[in-house]
Amino acid sequence: MRPSQRRHRLPLAFLSVLLLTSSAVADSTLTQGTAIGGDQRLASPGGVFQLGLFSVANNTRWFLGIWLTASPAGVVWVANRDRPLNASSSGIVALSGRGDLVLLDAASNNETIWSSSSSSSAAASVAQLRDDGNLVLADAADVAVWQSFDHPTNTFLSGSRAGQDLRTGVVWSVSSWRSADDPSPGDFRYVMDTRGSPELHVWRNGSKRYRTGPWNGLRFSGCPDMTTFEDLVEFRFTHTADEVSFVYRDRVGSPVSRLVLNESGAMQRMVWDGALWRVFWSGPRDQCDIYGACGPFGVCNAVGAVMCGCIKGFIPSSPAEWRMRNASGGCARSTVLQCGGGDGFYTLRGVKLPETHGSSVDAGASLAECGRRCSSNCSCTAYAASDIRGGGTGCIQWFGELMDTRFVDDGQDLFVRLAMSDLHLVPGDKDLVNLMP
Ligand SMILES: *[C@@H]1O[C@H](CO)[C@@H](O)[C@H](O)[C@H]1NC(C)=O
Ligand SMILES: *[C@@H]1O[C@H](CO)[C@@H](O)[C@H](O)[C@H]1NC(C)=O
Ligand SMILES: *[C@@H]1O[C@H](CO)[C@@H](O)[C@H](O)[C@H]1NC(C)=O
Ligand SMILES: *[C@@H]1O[C@H](CO)[C@@H](O)[C@H](O)[C@H]1NC(C)=O
Ligand SMILES: *[C@@H]1O[C@H](CO)[C@@H](O)[C@H](O)[C@H]1NC(C)=O
Ligand SMILES: *[C@@H]1O[C@H](CO)[C@@H](O)[C@H](O)[C@H]1NC(C)=O
Ligand SMILES: *[C@@H]1O[C@H](CO)[C@@H](O)[C@H](O)[C@H]1NC(C)=O
Repeated sequence: MRPSQRRHRLPLAFLSVLLLTSSAVADSTLTQGTAIGGDQRLASPGGVFQLGLFSVANNTRWFLGIWLTASPAGVVWVANRDRPLNASSSGIVALSGRGDLVLLDAASNNETIWSSSSSSSAAASVAQLRDDGNLVLADAADVAVWQSFDHPTNTFLSGSRAGQDLRTGVVWSVSSWRSADDPSPGDFRYVMDTRGSPELHVWRNGSKRYRTGPWNGLRFSGCPDMTTFEDLVEFRFTHTADEVSFVYRDRVGSPVSRLVLNESGAMQRMVWDGALWRVFWSGPRDQCDIYGACGPFGVCNAVGAVMCGCIKGFIPSSPAEWRMRNASGGCARSTVLQCGGGDGFYTLRGVKLPETHGSSVDAGASLAECGRRCSSNCSCTAYAASDIRGGGTGCIQWFGELMDTRFVDDGQDLFVRLAMSDLHLVPGDKDLVNLMP
């Protein structure tokens, strides 16, 4: 797979099939009438990224992909994940007459193996690979009609979004490769949960495996170490009526980085150091990051002698299972709530907030107002600030179980509703009672 400067003109028969007119091929662009195939590549203008055919599994299966020029093995995007070519020599990458980017198989009557199938009515007149690794199809007025950043495979690059377009419903998510030599979608997906206070979740088949925790104004609630590499990348979280998204950007002068959902279901933040990809962060980090490790109303403590405990005022719901170190059933309230004035709030300090998708969020309310609202609504089980900046503002209210809470460094306060009698259970107590024996 050596880079090649050759570009081939398509034979006339093929040109007529695609209704192409002939023109020269630029290094970083494809226009109608030009194509690449075999070992030919597009290179971004500054040469940072390349697009071309690559193989896995002993050259028996070939895919159209994008990689950092310096690291051909670190493929960051794949077009035909599910439909490999048998040989690189049969692959043709071109703009179709309809203005889509297509991968054709010459060994199979030029069958379309993959197409960008842009839903936009405007046909692309040019495809360009940019220096940020984004492959952009633009129309004659130079308006982007399709971009690979909107269709990530298992990798986010600087500037590509994770999240959802709330107007169109289009989701920007990634799925793991099936294995190191099979880029077809594997068991894991990394996707934004847009309900409650939006956060990112890793799913394995149908079950949730890991959550980042909601955005708290500075970082995800369950990822305190995000801030430790802010000198290399900056983060932006957007939540408007149009869009919920999370984007990072490499800072000017910083090396290229990527965020990958790997084949074992871990998210890895990697930075290219010139020779290899260094892992700066990965999640899940420990057993407490595994979703629901301590069940509803449980709290996970990764550095404690025992991992799972119940929030104060709660006791294990299946004591026999807890004794056998199975805390997944979680905890139950020891004293029923009194509602009308008979309850108070216990401050659970330093936690990753519980799952928010059944919660209500009001970014405009003060924390004091949040407490009043929760206090006056009998079904409110807990509240917390939605933004930790400036001492805490905004309001998240939970109405049912508190799921997947854990202690983290720089965690925030969660105010949990308890019957007044449980609040005064143990004077000068610790944060947790009812630890597993
Ligand atoms: C790769 O192909 C060669 C030659 O066909 C074969 O001997 C070898 O066993 C193959 N390796 C793998 C890992 O499939
Ligand atoms: C690719 O190889 C497989 C297995 O040998 C074969 O079934 C398939 O028809 C081939 N596809 C093409 C397009 O030649
Ligand atoms: C497929 O394209 C090739 C050029 O790459 C051309 O020679 C061939 O005639 C085309 N086949 C068909 C069936 O259109
Ligand atoms: C996930 O689904 C795939 C295919 O449906 C299956 O092969 C795999 O065993 C499943 N994995 C788990 C952990 O359930
Ligand atoms: C995925 O990432 C995790 C965390 O960095 C690592 O332990 C694991 O070995 C990786 N798996 C693969 C298949 O690379
Ligand atoms: C763990 O406990 C729950 C009930 O709390 C039970 O449903 C589940 O089967 C137990 N799991 C194992 C592996 O024993
Ligand atoms: C309590 O909150 C729930 C959920 O937001 C809401 O449906 C209900 O109307 C509220 N009750 C009162 C009395 O405000």
